Amino acid sequence: MKIGMFDSGIGGLTVLHTAIRMLPQEAYFYYADTDHVPYGTKSVEEIRRFSAEAVDFLQKQGCDAVVIACNTATSAAASYLREKYTIPVIGIEPAVKPAVEHGGSKRILVIATPLTTREKKLHDLIERVDEAHQVDLLALPKLVEFAERGEFESPAVCDYLKEMLKDVDPGQYGTLVFGCTHFNHFANALAQILGDGIAMIDGSEGTIRYLKHRMEEAQKASEGTLSVQYYQSGRKVDDTATLTFYKTVLNHLDLIYTHKRK
Ligand code: DGL
Repeated sequence: MKIGMFDSGIGGLTVLHTAIRMLPQEAYFYYADTDHVPYGTKSVEEIRRFSAEAVDFLQKQGCDAVVIACNTATSAAASYLREKYTIPVIGIEPAVKPAVEHGGSKRILVIATPLTTREKKLHDLIERVDEAHQVDLLALPKLVEFAERGEFESPAVCDYLKEMLKDVDPGQYGTLVFGCTHFNHFANALAQILGDGIAMIDGSEGTIRYLKHRMEEAQKASEGTLSVQYYQSGRKVDDTATLTFYKTVLNHLDLIYTHKRK
C-alpha cells in the first residue's frame, strides 16, 4: 500500500521510523511542511489549511491512507480532514492512555507544543483516562525550531530544557509522554536532565497498529518492497544534503529506540 504521512518538519520521521519497523514493505510518501513550520504556535484555522494542502498533495500521489504524523495537526485538524476526505486519515495522539495504564502510581508528564496543550482534544483525553489525576502538561515551544536545525543535544538545547524543567522533580515522575513527534529526538538530552528512572513513550506504535488494522480491513495489498519519497511542502526532495539529514535523523532514532528497548 501507499502510505502518506505529514508533519510540519522532521517530527514525523519518528512515526515513519516506527512504520518502517512495523510495516517494512510499503511505499511511504513523507511530506514535511517546511514552508509553515512550526505549527505549534499557529492558529487552528491555519493548521487546518496547511493540513488540507498536505492531504490533497498526498492523495494526488495515490496514497491509500494518510497518517497525521504530528500531534498538533491531529489536535487542530483531524476531525476536519476526516469530514473532507474519503481516504482514511489516521492521527497520532499523545500516549496518555498507555502511560496511565502501565505507569504505576508515579506522576506522568506530557510535553507538547503550546497548541496541543491548549486544545480540547488533549484535555478531553486526559479527562477520560486520568482518574487518579496523575497527569501534568508542559508546553515546550522552542524545541521544534531546535529540532529543525538538527540541534538535539547542544548546550543551548540543554540550557533550555533545564530552565523549562526546573520545577519538575524527577523523583515524582515515572513516565514522560512525547506529545509532539519532534520531541523524541531529544530523548538523550531529556534523560541527562531527568535521569534514567523515567520511562519515555510516544503514540507512534499505537498509530501504526491502527493504520495496519484499517488497511487490513480495506484489504489493501502490500507493495512487497520498501520505498520512501520525501517532499517539502509539495516539492520533491532530491538534494543530497536534505536526504542525508533525514537519513541521519532516522539513524539517530535507531540508536534512541535500541537504547530504550534494552
Ligand atoms: N511535530 C508536531 C507535533 O507532533 C509539532 C511541530 C510544530 O510545532 O511544528 O506536535
